[in-house]
Amino acid sequence: MKATRTLTNQHDEVREMFRHLKKGNGHTGELVQLMASTLVAHMLVEQELFYPASLSAVDDDHPEKPARREERVLEFYEDHATARYMIERLVRTAPADRTFTAKLMTLQKLVLDHFEEEEEKLFSKVEKQLGEQSAVLAAQMDTLFERTRRSGYAVGRDGAAKTASSPLRPAKGVRRVAAVLE
Ligand SMILES: [Fe+2]
Ligand SMILES: [Fe+2]
Repeated sequence: MKATRTLTNQHDEVREMFRHLKKGNGHTGELVQLMASTLVAHMLVEQELFYPASLSAVDDDHPEKPARREERVLEFYEDHATARYMIERLVRTAPADRTFTAKLMTLQKLVLDHFEEEEEKLFSKVEKQLGEQSAVLAAQMDTLFERTRRSGYAVGRDGAAKTASSPLRPAKGVRRVAAVLE
């Protein structure tokens, strides 16, 4: 499995959850919890593993690119910070509350736009630069994602908060999975 495929699959899972939530055919509270756990686990994985690897994978033959990519990745960290704030507000709101749909729709817009931007402006460019690293990174991301999601929303949220500051110029190569959950 390629690293960016792993992340796109996670995006698709979240997209599907938003579709179900919009239909509102029961179990809304449980689905919000699952969506929140999935989303914070996904953000943690990107912050801890994928974004640092993306910054390391820049093609040295194109000196203009590193600054551009860094700018973009920094914006993605900011999107995550906003999303975490909005997820927290949503999980604290009962589905019957009159502000619930407004909170859900606002979060959905932010998240879906963010996914699209990552896929178009980062994933497609990073994949070939990762080369052989890609499969190793994919396996590490999958492990961290599943482990975090299983631990539930609060653990994922705290893990995502710990890795929320952007790494500037990380060391070359894939970083080892940090023991953020221990
Ligand atoms: Fe992201
Ligand atoms: Fe993402």
